[in-house]
Amino acid sequence: MAALSFLYSQLFVTPPIPTHDFTEQTIIITGGNRGLGYEAARHILRLNAARVILAVRSISSGQTAKETLERDTKRWGAVDVYELDMASHASVQAFVMEMKTVNRLDAVLLNAGIFTQDFVLQDGYESTLAVNVVHTFLLAALLVPVLRRAAEAHGILPRLSIVASDRHVMNNLPEWKEENTFRVLNDPKRAKMSQRYPVSKLLQILLARAMAKRLADANGKPVIVVNSLTPGYTNSGLMNNAHGVTALAGALLAKAIARKTEVGSRTLVAAVSMGAESHGKYMNDSEIDGYVFLSVCVRCPANETRPALSPFVRSEDGAKAQEKMWKELLDILENRVAGISRVFG
Ligand SMILES: NC(=O)c1ccc[n+]([C@@H]2O[C@H](COP(=O)([O-])OP(=O)(O)OC[C@H]3O[C@@H](n4cnc5c(N)ncnc54)[C@H](OP(=O)(O)O)[C@@H]3O)[C@@H](O)[C@H]2O)c1
Repeated sequence: MAALSFLYSQLFVTPPIPTHDFTEQTIIITGGNRGLGYEAARHILRLNAARVILAVRSISSGQTAKETLERDTKRWGAVDVYELDMASHASVQAFVMEMKTVNRLDAVLLNAGIFTQDFVLQDGYESTLAVNVVHTFLLAALLVPVLRRAAEAHGILPRLSIVASDRHVMNNLPEWKEENTFRVLNDPKRAKMSQRYPVSKLLQILLARAMAKRLADANGKPVIVVNSLTPGYTNSGLMNNAHGVTALAGALLAKAIARKTEVGSRTLVAAVSMGAESHGKYMNDSEIDGYVFLSVCVRCPANETRPALSPFVRSEDGAKAQEKMWKELLDILENRVAGISRVFG
């Protein structure tokens, strides 16, 4: 069903042009210098955000993006560029130190991500795990106190949106049953790199759901909204490092069904515009938990209408994997920054 959902989205759905008003808001976009993050920044500026912070690993590329974004939207001075290398936990921590001085932070679009078929260690983790998972959640956790402070000072409901992917349906993380799943995924002898990107996106969705549970009050009301989303298959630089059959398949698929980068970016803006109703949810085509395919959800429980999210994520095993992976993640983050789990209350 999820595969049909994907094809239906690519072929028949065009996410609507965002209209949400971001007046007075400050939004961080990781990897905002190109691709989906860059186009999302353009929308958010057009929609009156006071300040967009591009968190980028290359300051010069960030500066170029700032210049074109400000020129195109005539929003001079509304874009700031900060250095952030998501492959390095020291860089994440240094970036957060800078963000502690920001007066008001409304939302964070955790967009920076990589696709690679090559096993390379970065800061102790296979690079996809390091960038897409470990440091994405390290950054989210370190920004929680900044967002909480903004909520108190400005009476706002801050948001954390994680750019995951519909490709999460390609893997059910059989390794979740291993004693230490991250250790298995991080073992070059056991790593299946052809599956690594979908695994990283599945982990993002599971961990976003787990984090959302910890960022709600006793009545389930979010203190910080956490959601995840898929932009759909979109033309960008994501597959630039792909090789072999994967590169060929990616290029053919891109020609046949990919969205334009601007069109895909609308889904990022939709997610970061959402309030409490999206808490812990996954968004597809700019809508919470996707759409109903021909009004039918095959193999879903009677009242379940979420075909975009994989059956595994919605299963009992998925829920167990989610909690197991959350515990493992917290251990990893504690090793990076002692005491960090306390931000989750
Ligand atoms: N395109 C799709 O079809 C698609 C579908 C589903 C989900 N997504 C997700 O959408 C997000 C954006 O991807 P995209 O399609 O826009 O790809 P992209 O064009 O390759 O852009 C990726 C962005 O992430 C940044 N980035 C990569 N590694 C980084 C690091 N170590 N530190 C900081 N920034 C880093 C890149 O910065 P540099 O310029 O410095 O490399 C770039 O700004 C990713 O999370 C991706 O998984 C994309």
